[in-house]
Amino acid sequence: MKLNWSDVTPKRDFLNRRAFIALGAAATIASPAVALTGRASAYSTDEKPNSFEEITNYNNFYEFGMEKTDPAAYASKLTTDPWSIEIGGMVDRPGNYDVADIAPDNALEERIYRLRCVEAWSMVIPWLGVPLSGVLKKIGVQPSAKYVAFETLTRPAEMPGLSSPFMSWPYREGLRLDEAMHPLTLLATGLYDQPMPKQNGAPIRLVVPWKYGFKSIKSIIRITLTDKQPVSTWNVLQASEYGFYANVNPQVDHPRWSQASERRIGAGLFAGRQETQMFNGYGDEVAGLYAGMDLKTYY
Ligand code: MTE
Repeated sequence: MKLNWSDVTPKRDFLNRRAFIALGAAATIASPAVALTGRASAYSTDEKPNSFEEITNYNNFYEFGMEKTDPAAYASKLTTDPWSIEIGGMVDRPGNYDVADIAPDNALEERIYRLRCVEAWSMVIPWLGVPLSGVLKKIGVQPSAKYVAFETLTRPAEMPGLSSPFMSWPYREGLRLDEAMHPLTLLATGLYDQPMPKQNGAPIRLVVPWKYGFKSIKSIIRITLTDKQPVSTWNVLQASEYGFYANVNPQVDHPRWSQASERRIGAGLFAGRQETQMFNGYGDEVAGLYAGMDLKTYY
């Protein structure tokens, strides 16, 4: 089954969204709203996506502050053009690559994924992006590489949250190479047919839908192929609470709260919580990556 978000969004919302985009284009002649289209994907869920307003106003992006509304309030200052990603380490063709070369508009796929935050809330987001595997294949991964490390930009003048001593910057994340090469793993450059909103990690971020949201690192400037397990910011901050793997797992509770259920953002006051699914519902695709591993030890 191949679905686009327009297929799973009530027609009324869809038309409103189109009208909104058209309005934006008319109102800002200097920088018209760019409408992108991504090819529909068999990996998309048919669950109803959250609204654009929900997805862009309830965020975690600590470089802009700790509150859910801080990214929407402060990320507009971020300069995202020009932007390149330094890809290096154990690769055949290291270098600085433009976002447009990594994820050209005509290569974009739409992936409607569930996002499950470790804080036990969730959303459904219609991303636009390219599989990370294709990018890594073009760069040429050397046989010695076992992991992929990612790093977010640090620019204090534009990111007020960096003055917080609470975290150690830059925000960093990592995947095992087979996780990075999995077809679900996306480098996303947009959502809802538009370039990535800054609060969601413009111009390019990772999306790993079977892991807690903190693995999906935003505004990436560096990707390094390595033979050592990379630093994960949350794991370094509090290893007993946030593991390197961070696979969504309703059977392994966070020390301070249950992971058995989640609150779907926008579901309404009386909707109740829903059960959290193993691997966030992507078990058929990814369980094989962890065959033989004790997921209570490797949380
Ligand atoms: N990436 C960076 N650089 N900084 C962050 O604070 N927060 C993570 C992740 N990526 C974060 C980040 C967390 S905790 C979550 S849940 C998701 O981004 C949230 O993505 P969203 O705001 O697009 O929904």
